[in-house]
Amino acid sequence: MSCAPQHPRSPFLLALRAGTQSSHKALEQRLPFFDARFDLHGYRALMQAYYGFHAPLETLLVGHQESARNKTPALTRDLQALGLSAAQIDALPLCSALPVVADEACALGVMYVLEGSTLGGQVLKRAMAERLGLDANNGGAFLDVYAGATGANWRRFLERLGTAPASSQDAAVQAAIATFERFEQWLDDRGVLLEPSRTGH
Ligand code: HEM
Repeated sequence: MSCAPQHPRSPFLLALRAGTQSSHKALEQRLPFFDARFDLHGYRALMQAYYGFHAPLETLLVGHQESARNKTPALTRDLQALGLSAAQIDALPLCSALPVVADEACALGVMYVLEGSTLGGQVLKRAMAERLGLDANNGGAFLDVYAGATGANWRRFLERLGTAPASSQDAAVQAAIATFERFEQWLDDRGVLLEPSRTGH
């Protein structure tokens, strides 16, 4: 994978990465994308649950991130392509146990998780194209939300991280961990995750 730019590794980025590595791994292993039984129905249920997390969380990020980074429009488009009406999308359950976005430090931690997911999204986009025939027009827009701008958007986010004061690092890491935990909890509550691995790997 070459989406991660060879950018000078800021201590801030390294702290976020180290702090969330095990949460990322845990979530990745419970997401059903690569499960043998995963089909379009499962994918649609999963994207509905994603919507229920991203939509209210992006509302909390208003004022902290450019609206061009909002991923809810792509999720809406995917759900419509997968057969949901606008009314059905409006009626989807929304997560209320969200990470707290009290200040810029928290926002950076939350954004790290949401922006980083566009990197993993590149892997998922290709896998879902292969396995489910998905593309940007029939339900797969979210997984490639920035399309050709994925690398550039990530680099711009890293530049912003690079200018953040070291004093906000701990709060950002805690917010990033909380984002992973709450996302996993929400997806679990919606019944769209695999059982946790018993081996702990
Ligand atoms: C099965 C699902 C997933 C897979 C296979 C996956 C895979 C990956 C891969 C391969 C990378 C490295 C990309 C690169 O270096 O170019 C990555 C990065 C990342 N992913 Fe995931 N991912 C998945 C789900 C998620 C989810 C759901 C989130 C958050 C909600 C997430 C958050 C991140 C973050 C924050 C990074 C950036 C790490 C860094 O460079 O510091 N991933 N993922």
